[in-house]
Amino acid sequence: MRSSRGLAGATGAPHARILGVGAYRPSRVVPNSELVAAIDSTDEWIQQRSGIRERRFAGPEETVQRMAVEAAREALAQAGLDAPRIDAVVVATVSHLMQTPAIAPAIAHELGTEQAAAFDVSAACAGFCHGVALAQDMVRGGSAGHVLVIGVERLSDITSPTDRGTAFIFADGAGAAVVGPSETPGISPVVWGSDGEQFDLIRSREDWRDVLGTTADPGSRIMPHLTMQGNAVFRWASFAMAKVAQQALDRAGITADELDVFVPHQANMRIIDAMARAMRLPDHVRIARDVAESGNTSAASVPLALARMIAEGDARPGDKALLIAFGAGLAYAAQVVVVP
Ligand code: COA
Repeated sequence: MRSSRGLAGATGAPHARILGVGAYRPSRVVPNSELVAAIDSTDEWIQQRSGIRERRFAGPEETVQRMAVEAAREALAQAGLDAPRIDAVVVATVSHLMQTPAIAPAIAHELGTEQAAAFDVSAACAGFCHGVALAQDMVRGGSAGHVLVIGVERLSDITSPTDRGTAFIFADGAGAAVVGPSETPGISPVVWGSDGEQFDLIRSREDWRDVLGTTADPGSRIMPHLTMQGNAVFRWASFAMAKVAQQALDRAGITADELDVFVPHQANMRIIDAMARAMRLPDHVRIARDVAESGNTSAASVPLALARMIAEGDARPGDKALLIAFGAGLAYAAQVVVVP
């Protein structure tokens, strides 16, 4: 006779929170002066338009995997957890330059997890906040006890040094967070979405078939690099994203007055300032400004900026921090988290 028993239900934690944060910044500092000749620009113009003074470019040894593992180890140490306690590794990146497999399983293995679920997320600059949203649902849904979320990029590999609109913006690095169970809410429901009508605003110049098909001479084949319609991205990010940030506060059930820290995607200092103005953030809210020294590191930018604020005492345990990230797709995600 067939059993009439139903399936077992989900057995997750009541809530989730970030338990530790880690960062890896490549050792080579690249000041604006090193880039300006190739794009007919000046240090003054770059600082005035973007707020970027310098950025880090990874060396040959600082691979996507190496940087991710270093950031993850720091996050695990801060969380007080060993790698075998991690059940899932979510890696947000657009610069792991192998179509398949994802880089996450290699990172999970090198860290010493016990065959954790591991996969990559491709949501460009919004990838880390997508990962945090997934992690909180996994912990609450019972598919993982602890999740490692990593944002890592080597954008210098896919940025043309002669492209005036991108060469001074994009950079390299990695950041990570461990998400685990909590008795009280530590990560608010995500506000996320996409605007595919603006798919072309930030994108690879061509796909791989175009690159391979353009010439019979392998020596002249070049990597598809990033292109960006800077003006349109600027307008979208400054206005539409301030609304999304406000929605994230609403979903968290807090007002801007109750916020301690604002960690927007480190795209451009003028966008950060425009968002803060549009949201009328009170003076006491401390704002991440890591872009000045790190450039735009896409998926790594939010965790790198948060890690810097924690290290410098600008984000303290128990603070409420609004994270928001946005970029190619166009894709965006925002949530409020309690700082570990
Ligand atoms: N150096 C010096 N001059 C430059 C330049 C450069 N790298 N790039 C463009 N210019 C010049 C242009 O030739 C133009 O000169 P003109 O007025 O004499 O014709 C002028 O600067 C304005 O060009 P424009 O393309 O309109 O620049 P902009 O004011 O939009 O600034 C960005 C360019 C990239 C700084 C700006 O659009 C931006 O910050 N966009 C958002 C980018 C971003 O953050 N993206 C990440 C989202 S994930």
